[in-house]
Amino acid sequence: MSTATRQTSAVGLVGRPMLIRLVLLTLLLLLDARLATGIKHSPRLVKRNSSSSSSSPPGNNATPERNNMVRGLRAPAVVDPRSPELLLRCEYDLGGNELYAVNWFRNEDVLFRYSPSLVPKATAYPGVADVNVSLEHSNAEQLLLIGHQDVQRNMKSYEGTYVCEVSTERPFLTDYGVANVSAAILPKANPVLEGLRHNYQVGEFLELACTSAPSLPPAELSFYLNGRKIDQSRVRSERMHPSNEATSSTRSELSLKLERQHFQNGILKVACVARIANLTQISRDYRVEAVIALGAANQPLAQAPPSPNSAAASRLYRYLGLLVVAFWAVGKIA
Ligand SMILES: *[C@@H]1O[C@H](CO)[C@@H](O)[C@H](O)[C@H]1NC(C)=O
Ligand SMILES: *[C@@H]1O[C@H](CO)[C@@H](O)[C@H](O)[C@H]1NC(C)=O
Ligand SMILES: *[C@@H]1O[C@H](CO)[C@@H](O)[C@H](O)[C@H]1NC(C)=O
Ligand SMILES: *[C@@H]1O[C@H](CO)[C@@H](O)[C@H](O)[C@H]1NC(C)=O
Repeated sequence: MSTATRQTSAVGLVGRPMLIRLVLLTLLLLLDARLATGIKHSPRLVKRNSSSSSSSPPGNNATPERNNMVRGLRAPAVVDPRSPELLLRCEYDLGGNELYAVNWFRNEDVLFRYSPSLVPKATAYPGVADVNVSLEHSNAEQLLLIGHQDVQRNMKSYEGTYVCEVSTERPFLTDYGVANVSAAILPKANPVLEGLRHNYQVGEFLELACTSAPSLPPAELSFYLNGRKIDQSRVRSERMHPSNEATSSTRSELSLKLERQHFQNGILKVACVARIANLTQISRDYRVEAVIALGAANQPLAQAPPSPNSAAASRLYRYLGLLVVAFWAVGKIA
């Protein structure tokens, strides 16, 4: 009888704390496993270079009244303003008819006229567009423009909407090709993000800087959180203009207090996108992306991944730490 009582009391005194310990330990181990997976899948700075440049040949969708002679005006969608010249080609098929004239326009100013039946055949109209025509290299099929030494001047003198207008005699038919040319020095790389860590807590400030690669015109930078653009009023931007260079970089800084709603399933996607003004012809983004997590460990992002040994060691220490905490907690309860 007394043995039975002692047994009951033994279960009562020893068994219940043991049970609590086991339950607590299981919970802590589960938590530990979650932490470990969280760290194993710790976000890395993901860089993506999306390069989808499209430059559809313009002017080849001739309407009936345009007689379908011009196949296209071939011109670079973007010309480097440091380039000493700009070559434009007018591709056409007269269908056996005789060429009367090819007239070249830029923004409706006439630049050059080629007419085989006139003397001289080639005539340039200088001054109008602040660009010189090379008579030597311009003819029935092409126009060669000579640029300036000055990059800023070339920005203006190359850029524009070009038209080549072709006409035949006997019968008199006419057609034209159109091309838009932008002048820019494109960035050679995607922007760079600085100041990011792997993990943040709600209430902490996300402080980051994005710097674009040099370009002309300088890039406009935008921040995106989970695909949504941050209002420019929250962004501080400055231009960095190295001397002796036509190009400049943009540096933008964002400071944002993190709230729980910023994290979707515990992560926040950050992107910085650089856009070059007036480049409507190329639909190309220069962007950098990163993923950060809601978490306790505030590790610097630009850290080398821990070696397997040190990872195992830190897991062991954490495990031991959890055991100590578990027994302490159980001691308090019991
Ligand atoms: C962009 O990505 C492609 C593969 O998708 C790679 O071959 C190329 O080197 C990358 N370019 C830059 C500038 O990172
Ligand atoms: C040239 O640009 C203008 C607007 O700037 C646009 O309306 C036009 O469609 C463009 N033409 C071609 C051939 O791309
Ligand atoms: C155009 O030609 C004129 C006369 O030859 C010359 O004075 C001028 O500097 C030239 N401009 C450019 C942009 O080459
Ligand atoms: C963009 O184009 C507009 C009109 O063509 C011009 O006024 C402006 O200076 C251009 N901006 C840049 C950055 O080149």
